[in-house]
Amino acid sequence: MEKTSVAVSKSDLSKIKDNALLIGFFKDKTSLAGDLKKLDNEYQNIISECIKKNSFKAEKGELKSIFANRNIKNIVLVGLGEEEKYDLYILSNTIADVSKRLRDNSTETFSICLESFKNSRLNDEELAEKTALSCLIGLYKFIDYKTKDKDKIKKIKQITIVTNSNKNFQDQLKYASVAAEAVNKTRDMVNTPPNVATPEYVANYAKELAKKSGLKCSVFDDRQIEKMKMGCFFAVGKGSVNKPRLVVLEYNGAGKGKNPVALVGKGVTFDSGGLNVKPYPYILNMKDDKGGAIAAMHTMEACAKLKLPVNVVAVTPLCENMIDAGAFRPDDVLTAYNKMTVEIKNTDAEGRLILADALAYAAEMKPEAIICLATLTGASTVVLGSVGTPFLSTDDGLSGKIKKASEKSLEKVWELPLWPEYEEKIKSDVADIQNIPDDPEAGVIIGAVFLKNFVNDVPWAHIDIGTTVWSKADKGILAKGATGAAVRLMMEMLREWK
Ligand code: BES
Ligand code: MN
Ligand code: ZN
Repeated sequence: MEKTSVAVSKSDLSKIKDNALLIGFFKDKTSLAGDLKKLDNEYQNIISECIKKNSFKAEKGELKSIFANRNIKNIVLVGLGEEEKYDLYILSNTIADVSKRLRDNSTETFSICLESFKNSRLNDEELAEKTALSCLIGLYKFIDYKTKDKDKIKKIKQITIVTNSNKNFQDQLKYASVAAEAVNKTRDMVNTPPNVATPEYVANYAKELAKKSGLKCSVFDDRQIEKMKMGCFFAVGKGSVNKPRLVVLEYNGAGKGKNPVALVGKGVTFDSGGLNVKPYPYILNMKDDKGGAIAAMHTMEACAKLKLPVNVVAVTPLCENMIDAGAFRPDDVLTAYNKMTVEIKNTDAEGRLILADALAYAAEMKPEAIICLATLTGASTVVLGSVGTPFLSTDDGLSGKIKKASEKSLEKVWELPLWPEYEEKIKSDVADIQNIPDDPEAGVIIGAVFLKNFVNDVPWAHIDIGTTVWSKADKGILAKGATGAAVRLMMEMLREWK
């Protein structure tokens, strides 16, 4: 299907021709001035009269639609709530909500009066970028597997940001469209069912993506993975007929001399739990267990499209955690790529096993930092719920970069500690470590403490998207299903990387 496009226009508001025009208002600040007053005059005061007649207060979420049926068919007054509390989160979710509404009412094009969505704390560039980005990701829907009434699926074709600023915002529109595409393509692939999106399928997809965007791509199959002595990763993949793949993508935007930033992404295309099989309903949605790997791949594609001046490598182990006669078992002792031995206590803690080898492999490339993206634990739900993503880091500089990127990208994160006491919990009687503690507690932290054994002193962070990878809500910038978690965060981090 055709993509939604966003453009900037500097034409006079009162000259705009479109199906709808969005105008933002702050609470109790609904009097019209400047361009808006001119527009109101042009339209025989229908805006000011509507505000008065309906006592439109501009409470957050309040909407009033005026059927003007002239150059502009529909004028939409959008309540933004108190100006003091207004921020880019409110802007993004409000604009996304209104976009969804207009689409569902069969509107195909609309304009946004940019300045009406601005308060004194926001700068024009951020405002334009987030406006475009939130429309494009808010309008996402996954329809690849619908066969009925495809022609009735509603779609916004064109969004116009109308501004009286002297800037043309081309860099912001470019960034927004690349970021939205990275998020939406991540959602598409994470939403793709596990009988289709097998490790081989995802690896072929990565090859294709690399070819188109000029990334270097290497793919290793199960025999090579075994030969490379990635004993943990190989063991997890062994119980499936869909054999594992290791995909390594490389982007050189800063030239040969500079060490890369490594993204290591968990790519379990389906997590049945293995012999410790997940009971219903916990087994549902386990196609989303590839979210970290898919986010890393599309972050790479975005880096290439934006020509960011940084070197990045993505290491993404892809496999399926299944049950057959060859499946690995509890009590097995596996030898990781870095020669550490791991006793298996639970085959459902498989993510940390495949990441152990991928992290050790990435660490050999002498990266400046390693960032691990993984749907590692269900326990992440307990920590921050669906609102934010827990992360942990061995390096204050790196954790600072992630926090700054979080503020810029609007993807909320919160740092948890890596206290040494937790290390005791995964000491094994027979091997160097075991994959889960005997008495489970602090699941997100213990997962990270396990992984830390494989990064060999490289500054490292682990981002547990176990909960935020998926949305039950269809609200604001969220759509039901995969969220594209960590893509915007990683893009902002790499955009500013020094
Ligand atoms: N992929 C899951 C984590 C997960 C669960 C992500 C639910 C999203 C939603 C991971 O492999 C897993 O099964 N983790 C176990 C760990 C446990 C065995 C220590 C979990 O969280 O229950
Ligand atoms: Mn699992
Ligand atoms: Zn898993």
